[in-house]
Amino acid sequence: MWASAVLLVLLGSFGANALDNGLARTPPMGWLAWERFRCNVNCTADPKNCVSEKLFMEMADRLVEDGYKDAGYEYVNIDDCWMAKQRDANNKLYADPERFPSGIKGLADYIHSKGLKLGIYTAYGNFTCQGYPASGMHLELDAQTFAEWGVDMLKMDGCKQMDRHTMKKGYPQMTKYLNATGRPILFSCSWPDYERGAGIPINYTLVAENCNIWRNYVDIQDSWQSVLSIIDYYAKEQDTLVPVAGPGNFNDPDMLIIGDFSLSVEQAKAQMAMWAILAAPLLMSNDLRTITPEYRDILLNKDVIAISQDNAGIMGKRVLQKGKIQVWTKPLAAVFQYATTIFNGGNAPTNVSIPVRDLGTNYDTGTIHIHDVWRQIEYPNLNYLYDVFSTTVNSNGVVLLHIFPVV
Ligand code: GLA
Repeated sequence: MWASAVLLVLLGSFGANALDNGLARTPPMGWLAWERFRCNVNCTADPKNCVSEKLFMEMADRLVEDGYKDAGYEYVNIDDCWMAKQRDANNKLYADPERFPSGIKGLADYIHSKGLKLGIYTAYGNFTCQGYPASGMHLELDAQTFAEWGVDMLKMDGCKQMDRHTMKKGYPQMTKYLNATGRPILFSCSWPDYERGAGIPINYTLVAENCNIWRNYVDIQDSWQSVLSIIDYYAKEQDTLVPVAGPGNFNDPDMLIIGDFSLSVEQAKAQMAMWAILAAPLLMSNDLRTITPEYRDILLNKDVIAISQDNAGIMGKRVLQKGKIQVWTKPLAAVFQYATTIFNGGNAPTNVSIPVRDLGTNYDTGTIHIHDVWRQIEYPNLNYLYDVFSTTVNSNGVVLLHIFPVV
């Protein structure tokens, strides 16, 4: 009697079809092919960079051997263009046999043998964004197929599903089918971004019930301008987006482009710090075989990763903006601890002086300690009410702070 009452309460509060996989308690970390490798399927002309099992195996090797796995990066994610151009005789999806001779199951076995997890991609609608077969008419079969292969994460896109109003039905159906497989598969949904694009009101409660992570905004490109516009979007929408983030559920501002062709070292630090403050998934899209040490060190910085992976899973907010300078603050799980970025979107190094009480923390009084995470500088014993925090923020750069009380 007691047990069934408890069950009813649980069903009542989450809905029988809600996502129920226990995953993404902190923002997921890993690698995702799209931004860097796109839909390059020409393995004859470009065998090193085409979308093939070899690419994912090589990235898995790098994740393990170069310290990324130890730092927390665990998912190796395939994006678009992995499929054969049609389904098999039983209507099942299968990988292009020339580019994926081991099949996805074989690739999953390899990835798992390295202690990593495999992510895959499909779309709601009949075709993927690049025109490959997608899951629209086959949600249940595809969920089962992915589970059979040993897939650990699924990104479901949807640009060819022209009726965006159907997404609030279709994505929850997929959630139900993923749950039914019994395999924990982290679900990454593009649904809110498509609703946004179509001007359809987004029901984030429903999104969070059905997805672990979700794209809110346009695709990141390999440019600083793209990073700036994404940060701007999250600031504008923060009152909607902050309440829906938390363990199991994260807004996804898209991939890290650190180590690609466009970001300077300062800009790369800024993206890393901002994605940590946003409690964003840390999915790198870069070439781990050729990345230089200065970018690798940014991606592996333990203090920044600790802020990203904080157990409270709170998305930070922009608390101050003056010209090109923005201050963002994220409350951490430890009582009265915060992470703060002072972000400079402008093209000149800027001296900044901000009263300590304006950094977005929530003390009444007392003495606090500020630690500059990238520069490893300590500012001990600052008076919360009366002191001013002064620093220089590099152009297109960021100062990342860990703030805690002195007890
Ligand atoms: C959409 C998505 C991208 C990527 C491409 C693949 O644009 O938003 O992240 O998956 O499709 O075609």
